[in-house]
Amino acid sequence: MREYYDARAPEYDDWYLGRGLFSKRERLGWKRELKALERALASLPWAHTLDVACGTGFLTQHLPGEIVGLDQSEQMLGIARERVPTAGFIAGDAFALPFADGAFERVFTAHFYGHLDQSERALFLAEATRVAPELVVCDAALRPDREREEIQERVLEDGSSWQVYKRFFGAEELAAELGGGEVVFSGDWFVVVRA
Ligand SMILES: C[S@@+](CC[C@H](N)C(=O)[O-])C[C@H]1O[C@@H](n2cnc3c(N)ncnc32)[C@H](O)[C@@H]1O
Repeated sequence: MREYYDARAPEYDDWYLGRGLFSKRERLGWKRELKALERALASLPWAHTLDVACGTGFLTQHLPGEIVGLDQSEQMLGIARERVPTAGFIAGDAFALPFADGAFERVFTAHFYGHLDQSERALFLAEATRVAPELVVCDAALRPDREREEIQERVLEDGSSWQVYKRFFGAEELAAELGGGEVVFSGDWFVVVRA
């Protein structure tokens, strides 16, 4: 996966912004909902936050508090550092977070949890709860045209093709899976749960 995300980094934001390969994709209400998601994230209480698998920092920039972003991809981190100069960024592994127990007030993660298989989920949740008492997960909402989980074929601008495991969530289901929590956002495209 590292190779895929390194290769995708320069075009990653096209997914959010509807540019490049995403310019012709029909996504009803996407732009409006993305703005609402950004507002919902910005409305979270201020917290010392670790954004795990922060990618290009597209959502990191809206998180309130003292923020550290972590990602395995230097290509992603390079973009994030330019975008969010007020945050700290570090290369690292979400399954072995390089921080002491309780080092943060909150772990935030977006569009990462839904790529994890069962054993990876257990590993990640153990690490997240080790470093912070609160976990906020943002991921893709279950839609009528989607299975709950699928292997997607992703094609990049260079024509390379990658297989990616992906899950989609109902907000309440995600909250239950995380052991209970508050639904912060529930839309057609995104869900956010604070556990
Ligand atoms: C779909 S992107 C999400 C990026 C960002 N959070 C967002 O919502 O825009 C997934 C990110 O997870 C990172 N990633 C994948 N496996 C990782 C791991 N084991 N440790 C840290 N980051 C990882 C990738 O490099 C990529 O930036």
